[in-house]
Amino acid sequence: MSKPHWLPLIEQQLKENPKSTTYAFSTSSEEGKPKVRYVIHRGITSNALLLTTTDTRMAKPQHIAHSPTIEIAWWIEPTNVQFRITGKAVTIHPSQDLKKAFETLGTEGKEEEGNEEWWENKRKDLWKSVSGHLRAGFGRPTPGKELDKVENSENWPETIPAESDKPDEQKVIKNAYDHFAIIAIAPEAVEFLELKPIPNRRTQYKRQSNGEWNETKVAP
Ligand SMILES: Cc1cc2nc3c(=O)[nH]c(=O)nc-3n(C[C@H](O)[C@H](O)[C@H](O)COP(=O)(O)O)c2cc1C
Repeated sequence: MSKPHWLPLIEQQLKENPKSTTYAFSTSSEEGKPKVRYVIHRGITSNALLLTTTDTRMAKPQHIAHSPTIEIAWWIEPTNVQFRITGKAVTIHPSQDLKKAFETLGTEGKEEEGNEEWWENKRKDLWKSVSGHLRAGFGRPTPGKELDKVENSENWPETIPAESDKPDEQKVIKNAYDHFAIIAIAPEAVEFLELKPIPNRRTQYKRQSNGEWNETKVAP
């Protein structure tokens, strides 16, 4: 499979705008209702999967387990471009059926993205790369639970190291890391909208059944 044409576009945009790492990530609830929220882009794998991270206890892992079709809207403000990406998403975490996840992503048999150990190393690397404040969030009470029903926020951890030699700290880290998951996204269609040129430009990329991508320029 050749490298999708949209991939260098995203890579170039990120190179020029390294701070533009936030996109809107839309899932469908179990009732079929659209649910959208912002997440942070955490990388692209060599087989063009987009990565973000989440807490296993949040709603999006449940949504994508029920219906893996997702959409992303990513506005890169300094260059005034938008990527709209439709695809399939899975949660990568030891609690998940990763063989099934690889089928959804189409990565079965691939050396990296079809390998459970590769993903566990990736999860560890991402855990180390996020801030201690962000890591601490994974050790707090279940997101979305009524505040009256959880322990006093004074006892919540403020920051958590990625690793520790101290048994007490190791316990806190393990509890938080147990909730830390990757969301891997396999794009199926990408629309690139350029708002700086007049007239604006809009290009659509679609993955074919043979894995190749076609490109169509459309009226903006
Ligand atoms: C700028 C920004 C970045 C965020 N990044 C993430 C992220 O990377 N992962 C995540 O799970 N939530 C992130 N959030 C929080 C989500 O938007 C959302 O509130 C949370 O994930 C709960 O959503 P859910 O219950 O629908 O899963 C971010 C929010 C903002 C405003």
